[in-house]
Amino acid sequence: MTASPSIKVIYDTDPGVDDAMALYFALAHPAIDLLGIGTTFGNVTVDQAAINALYLTELAGKKIPVTKGIGSPLRLPMHAPPVHIHGADGLGNLPVRIPVKGRLEPRSSAQFIVDMAREYPGEITVVAVAPLGNLSLALELEPGLPQLLRQVILMGGTLSEPGNVSPVAEANIWCDPHAADHVFRAGWKLAMVGLDVTHRVILPLSLFERLAQRQQHPATDTLLHAVRFYSRFYSQRHARMAEIQGCFGHDVLAFIYLVCPELFTTEPGRISVTTEGPALGQTVLDRDSHSSQSKACVQVDTQACVAAFERTLMRPWLAS
Ligand code: BDR
Ligand code: CA
Repeated sequence: MTASPSIKVIYDTDPGVDDAMALYFALAHPAIDLLGIGTTFGNVTVDQAAINALYLTELAGKKIPVTKGIGSPLRLPMHAPPVHIHGADGLGNLPVRIPVKGRLEPRSSAQFIVDMAREYPGEITVVAVAPLGNLSLALELEPGLPQLLRQVILMGGTLSEPGNVSPVAEANIWCDPHAADHVFRAGWKLAMVGLDVTHRVILPLSLFERLAQRQQHPATDTLLHAVRFYSRFYSQRHARMAEIQGCFGHDVLAFIYLVCPELFTTEPGRISVTTEGPALGQTVLDRDSHSSQSKACVQVDTQACVAAFERTLMRPWLAS
């Protein structure tokens, strides 16, 4: 008999190709109990993010509540979505979409986080892989949220690795630095999975081809189409990726950290975000702040992460 999934998760996302990979990792993993999905702007508009989250879950035959969240940054103007990386639709410009019936949950993403945290105090991990406005709003709605959640794991930020939108800033933090700073300072158990580790893990296109071959399904075909588009972007930019037609799986690493934290080296300390000037969106780790509950991932076992991703997605998780 298979044990029921034990790790309760709310996934906050802006799908997005690597967001889609991460979603399918979560759905495929036997220990993860995905309670709901929050959506926000970033790779696409929030409306498109919600459409994609509904589409990807329903395509995979899973009924997971999807909520719509915040559609713009708290204080700064919004940036145009990076259509050259994820496609205008966020999924590599899919040529057709199978009609799906899924409907959005009426609550906002922030309200959903608060309600679920009250229902399961101390049990829920929020895995956030997009700009952090939904978590920031949830903190406004329920200041006791840090005591109600088990932990927050976020993909975002960078310490030593150069940024991917400026010399020092990572995209999720840079898109809404005020929300990110609020979230980093909230005093909950938090792990930052940033470019210091996500830029060490390259996922080859061939892995997604093998997956679509092994599990023939509209969900794996859709993922393969999206990853082809996304890998083209990375292969044009990085010589080492051009050789293997690979890409970064950024958001996937937040889930791998959740289920295999031993694959990561972390450093504890207080994390804050620069909210103005040329270093806008930079994440700063104060290693001398020992009272902090937060930590940043600084090293990763690259091969073990790729293997964990492949092993999980190759499981028979899709209904035929
Ligand atoms: C992050 O930005 C987004 O484009 C990706 O989905 C990921 O969450 C990487 O910097
Ligand atoms: Ca993302």
